Amino acid sequence: MNQRELFFRHLAQTSPSPIALEIVRAEGMYLYGTDGKMYLDLLGGISVCNTGHRHPAVIEAIRKQADQYLHILVYGELLQSPQIQYAQLLTSLLPQSLQSVYFTNSGAEATEGAMKLAKRATGRTQIVAFNHAYHGSTQGALSIIGDEYWRNAFRPLLPGVIHLDYNSFDQLEQIGPQTACVIAETIQAENGVIKPAGEDKIGSQEKPAQISNEAREKTEPFHSKNWLQALRKKCDESGALLVLDEIQTGFGRTGTLWGFELYAVVPDIILLGKALGGGLPLGAFVASKQLMDMLMDQPVLGHITTFGGHPLSCAAGLASLNVLLDEQLMESVPHKEKIFRRLLVHPAIRSVRSAGLLIAIEFESFEKNKQVIDYCIRHGLLTDWFLFASHCLRIAPPLVITEEEIERACREILKGVDELRVMGDGL
Ligand SMILES: Cc1ncc(COP(=O)(O)O)c(C=O)c1O
Repeated sequence: MNQRELFFRHLAQTSPSPIALEIVRAEGMYLYGTDGKMYLDLLGGISVCNTGHRHPAVIEAIRKQADQYLHILVYGELLQSPQIQYAQLLTSLLPQSLQSVYFTNSGAEATEGAMKLAKRATGRTQIVAFNHAYHGSTQGALSIIGDEYWRNAFRPLLPGVIHLDYNSFDQLEQIGPQTACVIAETIQAENGVIKPAGEDKIGSQEKPAQISNEAREKTEPFHSKNWLQALRKKCDESGALLVLDEIQTGFGRTGTLWGFELYAVVPDIILLGKALGGGLPLGAFVASKQLMDMLMDQPVLGHITTFGGHPLSCAAGLASLNVLLDEQLMESVPHKEKIFRRLLVHPAIRSVRSAGLLIAIEFESFEKNKQVIDYCIRHGLLTDWFLFASHCLRIAPPLVITEEEIERACREILKGVDELRVMGDGL
């Protein structure tokens, strides 16, 4: 049996039509198939590989750590330098109020940890989440997923969860004294890149790379109509904690280090994952020391993980974040976003929504989108659609993508769109 047959026979399948390409190597912006075919990676492992595949500094850090130790004990007992160094760097790049990092295995586990912490800290039971939000696929994270189709088969789920419409100012009224926390993606990624309503800092002409550490601290409104700021205000009034999910929007993807900097809002807890591990599995929830210390008491060991904060993952993540900062990868993101937006113009493209290098190209239907995606893959561009926006083509490449690669990607995508016309698809 060949690899493909073995893949379908022995690996649990979660979709009737996986991409199912066999990849033998990945480097920088490219994945290489068994036949030597190169794929320009427009997915970045779904917002993971922000510094490109196998950056030499990341590989070197993994090698060095592998020479020292791998797993040595469950989370939180021993002093493990990669965890400590990484937590120090991360917190130096976050507001003063976010100074304590709990490393997990995944984004979903970070969501679970944050929900537990919020309940423990407030003594309240209600969790408010948003329609079309994605925070992971474990039972708790699934309970707050914002789409009944994805939840329904797995009921009963967590009690006490309510869903509001993202960007509805009116519905914020439902947050109240019973609410432990409100969990929101800073920018809804799987909904096809939906931003909080109102101006952001880029919209207000501030150059994102110049947002300073001091600016990260600021929560005062700079634009009265910003929905995320209204949400922050409502949480403050009702004593609910604000949890922002930066799992897709963190680590420079939006052109700022964290998406929330664009809206001058500081959350009580931040969720990290994906690019956090530099290509290895890692998640985290980050809060104030005072808040996080509650996991030590009633009960002790308020969250337990064997592998969370694995030393290899922390070493890789730390190296990757240093690359992001040293190579100033964020600086070019707004410019690259503009090139995509300038080139992606076609009568069959309904809209292009973007937050830095997180881009959704909207088509009339899933079928049309799928045809373009298939064309792209046949022509050496790796892309797919979004979970809650299957009619939107996903662009979330490593931030190291060059202008020439962007031009090539757009050329191919537009040829794929043109092919719809050739196939008489009634544009
Ligand atoms: C916004 C967001 N939150 C949470 C998660 C869950 O992360 P993980 O797949 O590592 O559990 C994802 C994954 O796609 C995500 O996009």
